[in-house]
Amino acid sequence: MPNIAVLGAQWGDEGKGKIVDLLAEKADIIARFQGGANAGHTVVFGKEQFILHLLPSGALHPGKVCVIGNGVVVDLEQLFREVEELKARGYDLTGRLFLSGKANLVLPYHKMIDRLQDSDKGDEALGTTSRGIGPAYVDKVNRLGIRVSDIFDRGTLERKLNLTLSFKEDFADRSEDKKAFDRDYLLNHLLSYKERLIPLLCDTSTLLLEAIKEKKNILFEGAQGALLDVDFGTYPYTTSSNTSVGGIFTGLGIPPVALHETIGIAKAYNTRVGNGPFPTEETGQIGEGLRKRGNEFGATTGRPRRCGWLDLVALKYTTRINGANKLALTKLDVLDEFSEINVCISYQINGIQTDRFPEDLSCWENFKPLYQSLPGWQSQTSGLTSWEELPQKAKAYVSFIEDLVGVKVGLISTGVARREIIYRKGNR
Ligand code: GDP
Ligand code: IMO
Ligand code: MG
Repeated sequence: MPNIAVLGAQWGDEGKGKIVDLLAEKADIIARFQGGANAGHTVVFGKEQFILHLLPSGALHPGKVCVIGNGVVVDLEQLFREVEELKARGYDLTGRLFLSGKANLVLPYHKMIDRLQDSDKGDEALGTTSRGIGPAYVDKVNRLGIRVSDIFDRGTLERKLNLTLSFKEDFADRSEDKKAFDRDYLLNHLLSYKERLIPLLCDTSTLLLEAIKEKKNILFEGAQGALLDVDFGTYPYTTSSNTSVGGIFTGLGIPPVALHETIGIAKAYNTRVGNGPFPTEETGQIGEGLRKRGNEFGATTGRPRRCGWLDLVALKYTTRINGANKLALTKLDVLDEFSEINVCISYQINGIQTDRFPEDLSCWENFKPLYQSLPGWQSQTSGLTSWEELPQKAKAYVSFIEDLVGVKVGLISTGVARREIIYRKGNR
C-alpha cells in the first residue's frame, strides 16, 4: 500500500472516520497531524459505533500503530478518556499509541476563552466547537503554548504557566470557572498526567521517518475539511489549522515525497456545522430531508448540520488545493429518494458567472449557485457493494462529478457500516 492521505474536501464530517477505518486494514501506522478534539470521526461495524475525537480512526484495528503528531493540539483529559473508553470496549492501545512531545496542549483556560471570545463576536460568531482549539493555536503561534514535553520538567512548566496566564487576566476575571485560570490547580492537573504520558511520549517525526525508510504503510488522517482550512477555507469562518495537504508535513515532520496518494473525501451533497458561507445551503424542505435521511447532527456537539446540494465549484477548488488524485464519495444512499438532484456547477456573482471558487468571500450571501439538475434514481443504493449493482442514474451522477472535478471517484460509501462500500476497479 502507498502512503495515503485521507482529507476532508468540504466543511468536515464527510465520513473521513469511516474511510480511514477501512483503509487502516492495510496500513501499519495511522497518524493525525492537525486539529484536536473538535474532530468527531464515526466508525461503525457490527452493532458498535465509535466516535473518535483525538485518537486516529485506525485505533480500532488491533496492532496498528497510532500517532498524534506535533501539529495536533491535545486535550489530555479527552485523550485519556478516549483511551480508557476504547480499553473498556476491548481495544487496548498499550504500546501502540505515540504522542509527540512537541504537541501543544489544550488547557481548561483555552476552552473558556473559546466560549467567551466566540460569544463576544456577537453576530460575527463562528459557532466553534468550544473545544479550545482556536485559543490553543493562538498560544502556539504566539509562543505562549505549553507542550506535552513541558510536563516532564516542573520548573519549566511553572515558568510557562506563569507567563501564559499573565496574558489572560482579563479572561480570568470574566470566567465563571476560576480553576481554569488557577496556576496551582493547572500545575497539579498537568503533573498528574506524567506517569500515563511516559509510554506515549515520542519523537514522532523520527518514528515516522524510520517507518518511511522501512517502507511501512502510513495513513494520514485529516480532521475537518479543506473549506475549514485557516488559509484556504472560508476565512474567517474556518478552524485554526491547515486542514489541507500542507498540514501533513508541518504537523508530522516528514517530507512531501513521503506522500504517495491523496484521497479527497466528499459527501454526495454538502453540509456545514457552525456559521459562515454555504452558497448551496437549502434551508427548507430539501435541507430538512437531507438532514433527516443523512442523520446530519454533529458528532462532537450534536448540533444540527446545515445541509444543501453538492457544490462542485468548491469541490473542484479543494481537490486542486489538496492535489487529490482520487475522491471517495460518501452518503450516496442519502439521495436515494430524491426525484431530482441538483449540483452546483458555477456561481453568479454580481451578474458575472464563474466556475472558479472566488478569492473574496466577503459578499458570499450574493453568490447565486447555478445548478445542473440531474435525475434521481429513486431506488435503494443503501448497502450496495459493487458498481454494477448501482442504478444507471446513480452511476451517471458519479460520472458527472468525475467529469466536472477531473478526478476519479475510487470509493463510494453506501451506508454507515464498514461493509457498505463500493471499491471501483483498481481501488481495493
Ligand atoms: P468525519 O468527521 O468526516 O469522520 O465524519 P462524521 O463521522 O462526523 O460524520 C459522518 C456521518 O455519516 C457519521 O455518522 C457516519 O456514520 C455517517 N456515514 C458515513 N458514511 C456514510 C454513508 O455512506 N451513508 C450514510 N447514510 N451514512 C454515512
Ligand atoms: P471533523 O474532523 C465539522 C467547525 C465548527 C466551526 C468552525 C471552527 O469531524 O470533520 P473550531 O472549534 O475548530 O474552532 O470551530 O469549524 N468544525 C467542524 N465542522 N467537522 C469538524 O471536524 C469540525 N471541526 C471544527 O463547527 O464552524
Ligand atoms: Mg465529524
